[in-house]
Amino acid sequence: MDLAYQQCINPDCNATYSVSEVHVACAQCGALLDIRYDWQRVAVPKSMAFFEHRWMTKGESGPGVLDFSGVWRFRELLPFYRTESDIVTVGEGRTNLQQAHLLAPQIGLNKGRLFLQYEGLNPSGSFKDNGMTAAFTHARMVGARRVACASTGNTSASLALYAALSQIPGVVFIGSGKIAYGKLSQALDYGALTLQIQGDFDACLRRVRQIAVDRPDLGIYLMNSVNPFRLEGQKAIMYRVLEAMNWEVPDWIVVPGGNLGNCSAFGKAFSEMQCLGLIKKVPRLAVIQASGANPLYELVTQKGLKWNGGRFDRKRVAEYYGQLDGADVHAHTIASAIEIGRPVNLPKALRSLDFMQGVVRQVDDETILEHKAMVGRFGFGCEPASAASVAGAHLLVEEGLIGRDERVVCILTGHLLKDPDATVKYHTGVDMKAVQEKAPRQEPKGRLACRPVPVPDDLEAVVRALQ
Ligand code: F0G
Repeated sequence: MDLAYQQCINPDCNATYSVSEVHVACAQCGALLDIRYDWQRVAVPKSMAFFEHRWMTKGESGPGVLDFSGVWRFRELLPFYRTESDIVTVGEGRTNLQQAHLLAPQIGLNKGRLFLQYEGLNPSGSFKDNGMTAAFTHARMVGARRVACASTGNTSASLALYAALSQIPGVVFIGSGKIAYGKLSQALDYGALTLQIQGDFDACLRRVRQIAVDRPDLGIYLMNSVNPFRLEGQKAIMYRVLEAMNWEVPDWIVVPGGNLGNCSAFGKAFSEMQCLGLIKKVPRLAVIQASGANPLYELVTQKGLKWNGGRFDRKRVAEYYGQLDGADVHAHTIASAIEIGRPVNLPKALRSLDFMQGVVRQVDDETILEHKAMVGRFGFGCEPASAASVAGAHLLVEEGLIGRDERVVCILTGHLLKDPDATVKYHTGVDMKAVQEKAPRQEPKGRLACRPVPVPDDLEAVVRALQ
């Protein structure tokens, strides 16, 4: 019997499924799924400090490949795989937590109180690798023939890397002109079939979900964060934060919010660690959105939406989205990674906010760019979306909600080099994207050239591109 199963998060449904099944939603009610464990049967260590000995250890028969990964060295906390040979890993998660002495006073915190979790150090340059290693492990377990995702760039870069590594063909759906060049270049170099859909991220996600569900003949395994296995891997970001803090729980975790997978995974990580008696305290959560892509902020902070034990007010959400549709409002922000108007993990994000006494704030593009430049100037660097976390922490300190002496961890989700255009434009005023668009094009000559394929946002056209 497996140690893990999938379970619907809707308390009025609670349907369960085996881990050998592939679902992008509950087959009974359409809600999101969680991975659950029969913890009684898992050899969970008595303390988180147990995991330290694995760091930099060598396995008995050569280097300990799983211990080399900052996700799988915590494997007892995500034991959904059947055998260790299922695991697809590239040594992700060897990231670090920096005590940002120079930046702390800039955002009103006392020295030694600000910490930056630098997820840009992952192999594909963003936190997504934490989740992708887990989802590919599941994809391999179930014998997936093809994997796909919609993306604002980082998910596609990460998927393409793991697809290349595991030799499972990868397809990425990206909004035409919507992703930063660094990220596009990664998907092409790793050799994924790159469909440039004429639409935004929300349109891409609708389309790829439709294809994964309605066209089983195309054999598409979905890698977006509706895939609950991905979030299992992303829990490890929190384990590493705690490890770097010597297992002392900080006061705040501050994270940018787009599709809301990360904040969902963080809440699950803390809730499980608490249930297992591995931590005594739970930090507070702050989710920061760009003001041009702020559905969680609007729904939670402005309209008072709450988890309510899983019976949240779905009508209020539908009404709000209906208003946006009626006015043809789409998400728009310089932080392209979080340019998302219909976050699929909204319910799980509400659950995390509830469990971690969370708050949601929005910050505008100018504030994001100023904080991005500060993160760079004081010795780290990150992409625009990541800087939203620092900008949000600053705002919360100014509001007085975060005390100057509280210990605050901001998650820097993606590497500075992911979006060179935004950085160059900030510092020089030159819009490289506009320059590139006008530049004459030549036929690519490289033997492995992988050209993006432009596709209208239309089911038949997408199916043709996949056949
Ligand atoms: N930061 C970066 C750098 C991201 O790439 C993303 C999401 C987020 C923050 C938001 O995280 O979705 O878990 O709330 N990028 C996705 C993508 C959507 O397609 O790469 P989230």
